[in-house]
Parts: sequence; C-alpha cells; structure tokens
Amino acid sequence: MTYRIVQWTTGNVGKKSVHAIASNPLLQIVGCYAWSPDKVGRDVGDLCGIETLGVIATEDIDALLALEPDCVVYNPMFANVDELILILGAGINVVTTSEFITGHQLGEQRELIAKACEQGGATIFGSGINPGFIQLFAIVTAGISDRVDRISIVESFDTTIYNSPATEKPMGFGYPIDQPDLRAITEKGSGIFREAVILVADALGVELDAIRCEVDYAQTTEDLELPGDWTIKKGCVAGIDVRWKGFVGDREVIAIRGVWTKGQSLDPSWSTDFGYTITVEGRPTVKSTLSFEPPPDFVAETLDDFIMLGLTITAMPAITAIPAVVAAPPGIATYNDLPLLLPRGVTADGVPRNSG
Ligand SMILES: NC(=O)c1ccc[n+]([C@@H]2O[C@H](COP(=O)([O-])OP(=O)(O)OC[C@H]3O[C@@H](n4cnc5c(N)ncnc54)[C@H](OP(=O)(O)O)[C@@H]3O)[C@@H](O)[C@H]2O)c1
Repeated sequence: MTYRIVQWTTGNVGKKSVHAIASNPLLQIVGCYAWSPDKVGRDVGDLCGIETLGVIATEDIDALLALEPDCVVYNPMFANVDELILILGAGINVVTTSEFITGHQLGEQRELIAKACEQGGATIFGSGINPGFIQLFAIVTAGISDRVDRISIVESFDTTIYNSPATEKPMGFGYPIDQPDLRAITEKGSGIFREAVILVADALGVELDAIRCEVDYAQTTEDLELPGDWTIKKGCVAGIDVRWKGFVGDREVIAIRGVWTKGQSLDPSWSTDFGYTITVEGRPTVKSTLSFEPPPDFVAETLDDFIMLGLTITAMPAITAIPAVVAAPPGIATYNDLPLLLPRGVTADGVPRNSG
C-alpha cells in the first residue's frame, strides 16, 4: 500500500519530513499546507531544497481535506486545536511533532480532539525525538528488568545553532536571570514533558500521585548572537536544566531531564554531552546512551547541514508511525497503543527507494 500524505508546513522539522516522504516509495506527498503567505503557490520540493515534486503549497485547508489523504504530517510551530479538529473530523489521520504526546496538557480541548477522532473515524499520534521516541526507547528497555525502581532520561545538547527562537523563548531562554516568574514560564513552555512522564507511567501501569517540575538556569556573561536574528543579552538565560518528575507517594519513579545550553560564556559553566542517557534503575539496572553521527557519505557545507541530522530524528518517529496510525482504531493513540513500528521503505535492500 502507498500512503497519500499531506504535509502541514515546511519549517525546520517539516522540511525533513518532506525529504523522508519524498524518498520513501511507500509514501506519496499529495498536498502541502503553507502557514507563511510567501510559501503559497511554491513547489514543496523547492521549498524544502530538493527536486521539484509537482505539489504546490496552499493555505486552502478545504482543498487539502478534499484530497482525502490517508494522513497529515503535522509539523507547525504551534499546534492549532481547531485545525486538528477539522482534519480529524474529516476522517484524516494525523501524525504530529507539534506539542502532542498524550494530549493531556490541552485540558478540555483534549476531549474535543478525541470527539473529532470518533466522528471522523481518524487517529492522532504525537511523537518526536524527545518527547517521543526516547520515551519509547526507555519503555522498551524496561522490558528486560524484573523490577523497575525508577526510569531516568537525560537529554543534553548545546542548541546554539538551532534556529527556532519562537519555540525556545517560551522555555525561558533570553529572559533576565532574575525574572520573577521565570520558573512559571519554563514550566508552561516545557509542559509537553509532563505528557512524556504520563506516557512512561502508563507504560509501567503506575498511577502517579504527583508530577513536578524543577529547573535551574545559567546566564550568559556576554551578549550572544544567535540564528533567527536573536540576541541573548549578557545576564540573561542561555542555559536551562529542567527536570519533570513523576512520584508515587514520595518516591520518584520517573525523571525526564533536559539540559540545553547556548554559547561558551555560561555562568555557571555547564557542559553538554550531545545525546541521551536512559537509565532504567532496577534488577538489573540498564543504562543506554544514544548519540548521533553523520553517515559516511555525509557532506556538510554549513552548520545547518549538521542541525538537519537532529531534525531528521525529530521528524522520523512520526513518519515511521504512519502505517500503524492509519490502521489504528479511531482516537488518540500513543506508543502504548500502537504495535511495533517498522522502518519500512528506508533501506536500499528493501522496497526500492525514491531519490532524496
Ligand atoms: N518532540 C520533539 O522531539 C521535538 C523536537 C523539535 C521540535 N519539536 C516541535 O516540532 C514542531 C516544529 O518545530 P520546528 O522547529 O520545525 O518549527 P519552526 O520551523 O519554528 O516552525 C514550523 C512552521 O510553523 C509555521 N509557523 C510559523 N509561525 C507560526 C505560528 N505562530 N503558528 C503556527 N505555525 C507557525 C511556519 O510554517 P511555514 O512552513 O508555512 O512557514 C513554520 O515554518 C514544533 O511544535 C516544535 O516544538 C518537537
């Protein structure tokens, strides 16, 4: 079966989604939504720096729904619940990297999404690298211990060259280090990690009594010029160490930590590991690290070429889920509901690949 796909926006992650769809013989891009007016009317391949695909980006949502795709790959900067309700209500499945893992942070709007799924007979699934795939990795890893006491996930990256100030400022980056409501800003901005804690707890069959957020900050000791015409001023936040924790009683059973830094002028001067450490504490304790390297044939001309690798690992968990999401019963699906997700159409030895 070939899956007909509509791509929703072509930003950082969206571009890598389009690259992956265009090169996978099991997937066919049939439409593309453009949020930016200057992208309307342009070929999607052109927008994403690959060959012309013969698909023109549009802002006309009705026209995209009329294409009756099997799935929308939804990668906008911010999720728009009304938009999701329209898509799902029209019977079109959604895989997304945009602020959706279990949907719980949406409060009552989660119910509206669930209702739209039911009405349209469609499924929504959210992932990414973290939150997303990394929690799946931890859940799978926990399956080889006969007692699990705690699951800890640490993401550690220098994000200096990541060009998405609009998604990073709400986390707390760039604010004066003594801003009174800084913790509240980070708690709201990183709230999607609450859903990641819920996902892992659900996988363990554990009922949590509390989910809490802790955070520390580092400031820059000089002005930092960053991609996206963004300057973080001296004395403002350029490092965030946030921990989302799930408790049963007083016992911490899940901890998801992100350590993100920018520049070389941090106070305190934190180091970053460029990867993930996943520890299942139990019998036995299982420790895994995930790090990423370019393939041997990788030619990097700019720093952006390297950051594109990071965006590939964000886009692919949603793309890989498409066949399972299309086959799933209507509703909100998480990793705990879907079968093993198979990486089909990505190897030269399997189904022949398209170019890209
Ligand atoms: N879970 C994870 O591991 C993970 C990791 C990284 C990112 N993410 C999430 O993935 C999503 C995409 O990230 P990204 O870095 O690709 O984002 P981005 O490049 O900053 O923005 C994506 C696209 O969103 C559209 N857009 C711009 N302003 C918007 C607004 N105010 N409201 C709605 N849409 C707007 C634009 O569409 P056009 O293409 O039409 O210009 C833009 O290209 C975000 O929600 C981000 O938080 C998840």
